[in-house]
Amino acid sequence: MLENKLAPSMMCADPFKLSDTLADFKKCGIEYLHIDVMDGQFVPNFTLGTDYCRILKKNTDIPLDIHLMINDPENKLSWFEFGEGDYVSVHAESTKHLQRALSLIKSRGAKPMVAINPATPIEVLEYVLDDICGVLVMTVNPGFAGQKMIPATFDKIKRLREYLDARGYRNVEIEVDGNVSFANALLMREAGANIFVGGTSSVFSSEGSICENIARMRNSLK
Ligand code: DX5
Ligand code: ZN
Repeated sequence: MLENKLAPSMMCADPFKLSDTLADFKKCGIEYLHIDVMDGQFVPNFTLGTDYCRILKKNTDIPLDIHLMINDPENKLSWFEFGEGDYVSVHAESTKHLQRALSLIKSRGAKPMVAINPATPIEVLEYVLDDICGVLVMTVNPGFAGQKMIPATFDKIKRLREYLDARGYRNVEIEVDGNVSFANALLMREAGANIFVGGTSSVFSSEGSICENIARMRNSLK
């Protein structure tokens, strides 16, 4: 069973409290910082960018989990600072050269991950299973925080875990992204996910402080 990891969604973090938030994450043993990068073309929004990744790398040793929601990512990877221990995900729907993008990420020592939108079949992974360390399952249509999870994605997580295990890829991790609430996280875990992107409905929920929400998240995953 792959261990549970939390990856707070930094687009949901208050930029005016960033250093306190990073200190809280360090104190709570957060495993990754989920960085949503959007180009306004692959998804209808702009969020965090190359400078944000560079600044985070300079100010914390918590590994990055860079989620590239950009077209033709293979031509833009050199714009970003990442390396050993960082996850970098590219969308299967965003490039004609998925395997090339994944091998470029690996050549820089980072962990390649394929992100798939809610309507994208898991079979797109068939010929890149040897090139990935994880799969990022979008449980909402990418672009905005605060959305509601698409119910069909529960079954998709379960099918993906079975698909990977049946082919001998038990170590390939499944990350879930979008409305990963305290309640949804447990159901996602039971379906086979082990990396959880905490956004407005969990880590950054107004129901508690960041540390309280993280503790609640970890307890709900036990
Ligand atoms: C959506 C982003 C998610 C989002 C999560 O495109 O990839 O990371 O910030 O926010 P919530 O948890 O509010 O859905
Ligand atoms: Zn994301």
